[in-house]
Amino acid sequence: MDRRLSVVVAVLMVVGVVLFMVQPQPDGKELFRSEGCINCHSFKGEGGEMAPDLTSVTQRRSDEWIRQQIRNSKKHNPDSRMPSFNYLSGRQIDAIIRYLKS
Ligand code: HEC
Repeated sequence: MDRRLSVVVAVLMVVGVVLFMVQPQPDGKELFRSEGCINCHSFKGEGGEMAPDLTSVTQRRSDEWIRQQIRNSKKHNPDSRMPSFNYLSGRQIDAIIRYLKS
């Protein structure tokens, strides 16, 4: 391969890795509020009461179960009153789960 081309490719790879590393982490606490989870659920003494308290949910349920509940709660309960948050990215859902573990 042409040497200059190899240098350009190497530089682009480094730039890509750096951009990937500096991506901001989604903020689970912020999402829990902005997505409205807090209107129905309480967490550590703050929030709504129409849905189960989530303070120790990560001790009762696996991450995978919670991920499924957030994406489409009808899979667990066809009569679920919880809306589907299918539009959230995997990273956003993981951030919410990390927050629920905090
Ligand atoms: C409109 C009210 C509402 C909103 C908004 C809502 N939920 Fe729920 N959620 C419920 C209800 C009701 C249940 C009880 C089980 C069911 O009906 O599916 C539930 C169940 C759950 C459970 C299982 C709790 C358990 O004890 O098994 C988790 C985890 C959960 N919700 C997380 C979330 C997260 C995270 C969000 C925000 C992204 C959210 N919920 C938004 C109403 C809501």
